[in-house]
Amino acid sequence: MGGHAVAAAPAGPSLQALAQRSGRNFGTAINAVRAPQESVLDAQYTALCRQECGVLVAENEMKIYGLRTGYDTFDFTRADKIAAFAKEAGLALRGHNLIWARPQYMPKWIKDHDFGAQPASAAGAWIDNHVKTLMDRYQGQITSWDVVNEAIVPETGAYEVTTLAQAMGGTLEMIDYAFRAARAAGPKVELVYNDYMGWENGSATHRKSVLKLLEDLRKKGTPVDALGVQSHLDGSPVDEREWRRFLDEVVGMGYRLIVTEFDVRDGNLPADLALRDKGVADAGKAFLDIMLSYKQCGDVLAWGLVDTYSWLQGFGRRKDGQQVRGCPYGADYQAKPLREAVAQALIHATPYQGAAKA
Ligand code: G3I
Repeated sequence: MGGHAVAAAPAGPSLQALAQRSGRNFGTAINAVRAPQESVLDAQYTALCRQECGVLVAENEMKIYGLRTGYDTFDFTRADKIAAFAKEAGLALRGHNLIWARPQYMPKWIKDHDFGAQPASAAGAWIDNHVKTLMDRYQGQITSWDVVNEAIVPETGAYEVTTLAQAMGGTLEMIDYAFRAARAAGPKVELVYNDYMGWENGSATHRKSVLKLLEDLRKKGTPVDALGVQSHLDGSPVDEREWRRFLDEVVGMGYRLIVTEFDVRDGNLPADLALRDKGVADAGKAFLDIMLSYKQCGDVLAWGLVDTYSWLQGFGRRKDGQQVRGCPYGADYQAKPLREAVAQALIHATPYQGAAKA
């Protein structure tokens, strides 16, 4: 796949090289399903991944709905395509995600499944098989998995409830079970709870409930190694002090941190490109400066390197209809101020001292 690179990264050290200075990796999501085409098949995109990254994550292809075709069946075609590219390019790979705790992302065949007279054991067996099948397939390649994704309703702080969780006797029980299954399948793999509580004022309820969940999991002895902080910045007012307090509590419980899905929504910023790009960069820099001041905060992954492929074009649309500019590179593959902001944050990062991966 090499050789046809259209060099896009600015001269000087790559983001990965800068991340490595403090013991981290920098990376991005990549996909095999999104229109206008698969970013994993876009030569410019993959060239940029090779230039800038040390780690990749599949945006959708390892989700239950992305690779399960039924209660007993899998289709690994798209996930394998991404894993093969990562391997060929010599990049690490994160796993996203084993169980997405939101009912809307559970396929119909699991929603409709009859778990029978002993639902907890039937659902447990399904989780065991799902977790083991995925972790075994990418054993040795994926060393960090989002085991459970988004188990909290952000607005109320209540648990998300799926039929799978109901069958297990509750969401907390389901989460605990999934992490234990993951530990059994990959004793050396980093196990992550991933969520999008943020530093925005409106995220206070979400933050509080994530803390409670992390506390409850510690009490249960659930094997969770890190909190995945998705980091989809949304441009609304933030409270840095509250955010640090949240992070302090998380690391105080012995969890590491990972920036798993970094990008910046620009809907509150002016249409003017220079002003908008500066606003995005300033927000990104302020946020990453805080995250990377924690020695327990590990890798930084963007949720897309190039605006063309960003989920925000569909889910974070601007009222004026202009393309959202929330990634480090524009649709023209030119680095934007956000790329420099990420570089600066990495340059000034506190050295990573998370627990050594066993
Ligand atoms: O594959 C179909 C395609 O066949 C169809 O033509 C097209 C029409 O809309 O839809 C395609 O599927 C979409 C898929 O993305 C691939 O583009 C789904 O409708 C759409 O729901 C899906 O959205 C993804 C979303 O998660 C839901 O899974 C986004 O790409 C992805 O960026 C987003 O990622 C999540 C993380 O997993 C968890 N954290 C939040 C983050 C952003 O929402």
